[in-house]
Amino acid sequence: MRTYARISSTGSALPEKILTNSDLEKMVDTDDQWIQDRTGIKQRHVAVDGETTSTLAVQAAKQALQRANMTADELDLIVVGTTTPDLVFPSTACLVQKALGCPGITAFDVNAACSGSIYALGVADKFIQTGQHKKALVIGAETLTRMVDWTDRATCVLFGDGASAIILEPSQEPGILSTHLHADGSHDDLLNATVGVSSGLKNEPNGGLKIRMKGNEVFKTAVLTLGKIVTQTLKANHMKKSDVDWLIPHQANLRIIAATAKKLNMDMDQVIVTVDKHGNTSAASVGLALDEAISSGKIKRGEVLLLEAFGGGFTWGSALIKY
Ligand code: COA
Repeated sequence: MRTYARISSTGSALPEKILTNSDLEKMVDTDDQWIQDRTGIKQRHVAVDGETTSTLAVQAAKQALQRANMTADELDLIVVGTTTPDLVFPSTACLVQKALGCPGITAFDVNAACSGSIYALGVADKFIQTGQHKKALVIGAETLTRMVDWTDRATCVLFGDGASAIILEPSQEPGILSTHLHADGSHDDLLNATVGVSSGLKNEPNGGLKIRMKGNEVFKTAVLTLGKIVTQTLKANHMKKSDVDWLIPHQANLRIIAATAKKLNMDMDQVIVTVDKHGNTSAASVGLALDEAISSGKIKRGEVLLLEAFGGGFTWGSALIKY
C-alpha cells in the first residue's frame, strides 16, 4: 500500500513593515496605477534590521508546529527552500534547527529561486514516501528585498519578504498525489543575481548583489511553461481540469496567475491570490498563499489543490495534493 505525505498543518510569518506602492512612488519613477495594472501588487512586507530569512522561517515553523499540536523534538526532517540564506553556511535549515532545539535530525536547504517551496515540498514528499522520515518541516523563506536594486523600477516594485511552513506526516490516506520538478539553466541571462561567492563580489554597496531581470521575456516563458506543467500534472494523475478545486500559484504577477487559471478553465474565485498584499516573496509565496487559504477556512479537507511555481534558473514545478 502506498504511503502518502499528508499536510498536517501550515504556518506563516511576514515582517511588520509594509512598503506600499505610494512609498515606492517616492523612491523611483513609478506609479501605483502602473504597478497594480501590470502586476496586481498593492503592497509588500519588508524585513527590518534584526529580521532575517531564518528568523521569519522560525516564526512560521513555530506556528505550524503549534497548529499540528507537535513539539520540535518530534521532527525528523527540515527542508528550507530559499535563495536568500542568512549565511552561505550554516544552511538556513541548520539555523532553524538550532532555534527550534531539535539537534541531530536531517536539515538542509534547497535553492530553486521562486520554485523553492515546490522543490522543498517535492523533496520532503520523497523522504516521507520512503518511510525513513515521519515528521517533516518544509519551509519556504526569503528576504529578497535585501538584494533588490532600489534604483531599478522594473524590479524593485515586485519583491517582498516572508516565510511559510508546512508540516508533512505519512498517511495511508491520499495527501501529496504527485510533484513535478523541472529546470532549464540555459536562460540564466534573463533572470539572475549579478554576483556570488565563487564568481566574486564587487567593491560596491551590498557587494554588488542585485536582481536583474528581463521581465517581459520572463513573463512570456512563465505563462507558456506553467500552462504546460498543469497539463502534465493532471495527465500524470489521470485527472480532468474540473477535478481541481483550488489553484495555489506562485505569486509573481496577477496576469501570469490569471493566464494559468484560464488554461485550467478556472474562475478566479477558485484561485488563491495574495500577490496584492505580499508581492513576490519567491520561495515563500506558494506556502503563504496555502496557509492563508487554509487558515481562513477557504480550503477544506478532501479538496484537490494544484500548486505551481516558476522562477530563476529557470526552475518550475507543481504539486497536486488531496488536502
Ligand atoms: N513603473 C512604471 N513604468 C515601468 C516600471 C515601473 N515600475 N517598470 C517598467 N516600466 C516601463 C518600462 O520602462 C517600459 O517602458 P517603455 O515602453 O517606455 O520602454 C514599460 O513600462 C513596459 O515595460 P515591460 O517590461 O515591457 O512591462 P511588462 O508589461 O512586461 O511588465 C513586469 C513588467 C516586470 C511586471 C512583467 O514583465 C513581469 O511580471 N515579468 C515576470 C515577473 C516574474 O515572474 N519574475 C520572476 C519569476 S518569479
